[in-house]
Amino acid sequence: MIYSYNIFKNHYFFLCVIILLFLHNTSFTKELISGYQFSEPSTQAIQDDDFTNPAFIWIEHGKQIWKQKQVSSELSCNSCHGEVKNMKGISLKYPKINDEKKLINLEQKINICRTNKMNLKKLQPESKNLLALSALLTFQSKGLMQKIEINTENKKWFDLGEKLYFKKIGQMGLSCSQCHDERVGKNLRAEKISQGHVNGFPTYLLRWSKIASVHRRIQFCNEQARALPFKIFSNEYNALQLYMTWRGNGLVIETPAVRK
Ligand code: HEC
Ligand code: HEC
Repeated sequence: MIYSYNIFKNHYFFLCVIILLFLHNTSFTKELISGYQFSEPSTQAIQDDDFTNPAFIWIEHGKQIWKQKQVSSELSCNSCHGEVKNMKGISLKYPKINDEKKLINLEQKINICRTNKMNLKKLQPESKNLLALSALLTFQSKGLMQKIEINTENKKWFDLGEKLYFKKIGQMGLSCSQCHDERVGKNLRAEKISQGHVNGFPTYLLRWSKIASVHRRIQFCNEQARALPFKIFSNEYNALQLYMTWRGNGLVIETPAVRK
């Protein structure tokens, strides 16, 4: 009787230890840190001040395009959507499944509105006007929490994104995870590797003196790891963007962020 009681007690003790270790471990791996925390103080200072943050040139430009009436349709974005502040929270839903059951990001949706609702041509990927509108719309969600939902509709894209995130690629055989999970805080050339979140995009890159989309940033990571990049707006990058967004659920939107 006493013997079995002790065993129960011992098992109970070990079980508690294991549960505690497990809880500690999961809360540790789930700690979310924005890329901002890995930036140098001088770069953070540029981001913090709306007057010195050069990304605001794009946002101001975006405001102009938002209200610009097109000769062809007599319409501006503003004619249908009203003040741009009405778009608060919209960017949080992207990448999103469209009517054709394809995953698209915010830049692609902007282009769809241009072609379908305004009879205009698509804006080129990474063009000034497209990034200006994308930055303007995402800026409306600044301060809101990233909380994308994974559901039956987007699950297969999410799975593809997760697969790509852990896939070892390129001449160096490196996956995203090997840098953005395993080497967080370590230096790569002149930069500190962050968790690779997307809560500041479109982001101003000082090295390029321009803003860049999530897809362009991933291309750059691919190039740095000597892997062949996919195309901007490819299914692969949209799937990765969905996975990266989910991975950062709980972070606050900081657009427009500034990085080296
Ligand atoms: C003729 C009216 C019209 C014009 C002009 C227009 N839109 Fe739209 N837009 C809509 C409608 C209606 C929807 C919702 C239905 C849909 O998603 O197609 C929408 C949806 C959107 C969405 C997605 C909203 C969501 O909840 O996911 C974005 C982003 C957007 N528009 C951006 C723009 C931008 C940027 C412009 C200017 C370049 C623009 N739209 C011009 C009518 C318009
Ligand atoms: C060889 C290491 C390495 C690999 C592999 C790598 N990255 Fe990066 N990544 C970096 C570095 C360095 C930066 C710039 C510093 C930072 O923000 O982490 C960066 C930045 C980013 C950022 C921007 C973070 C921010 O806050 O601005 C994203 C998003 C990102 N990477 C996604 C990816 C994805 C997705 C993959 C896989 C396809 C990938 N990276 C592969 C090193 C890597």
